[in-house]
Amino acid sequence: METTLILFKPDALHRGLVGRILARFEDKGLQLAGLRLLRMSPEMAAKHYAEHLGKPFYGGLVGFMTSSPIVAMALRGPQAVGVARRLMGKTFGIDAEPGTLRGDFGCSKSFNLLHGSDSAESAERELALFFPDGLEDWEGIQAPWLWDAE
Ligand code: RTP
Ligand code: MG
Repeated sequence: METTLILFKPDALHRGLVGRILARFEDKGLQLAGLRLLRMSPEMAAKHYAEHLGKPFYGGLVGFMTSSPIVAMALRGPQAVGVARRLMGKTFGIDAEPGTLRGDFGCSKSFNLLHGSDSAESAERELALFFPDGLEDWEGIQAPWLWDAE
């Protein structure tokens, strides 16, 4: 079983889309393991986006992500990292396929609603940053009907 980090970016909060988007992840069969409303500090954003330091979009990205509160969510399920990324769709709303979250809810490059960890290793690092006290360890009663036996 894998756990991934999803961030609802400031545009998702300002547009009142957190509940509808969260429901889509739940509908898919991923289970909540952590949920937090917070404002990212510049230091936290620098750690989270360290891999993008020096890229032309870095300053705008960090400015955007620290401009308003965000919601951090840990989701657990089989291959949760890839499942969540495919549900989110391509990085930019203008390119994302209909049926995906970015494809259905936006047409911007900068305001793309969500972040999702891109590998199990990234997820581990990012979850430690946003959930330093750890995650809730539980299994929903639907799990035997949603997830294959391992
Ligand atoms: P994310 O990390 O947000 O889940 O998205 P991603 O893996 O698909 O995209 P990544 O390459 O990691 O880029 C992180 C975020 O930087 C912004 N970005 N802007 N203007 C640009 O060319 C550009 N490229 C990337 C996006 O907000 C992207 O989500
Ligand atoms: Mg990324």
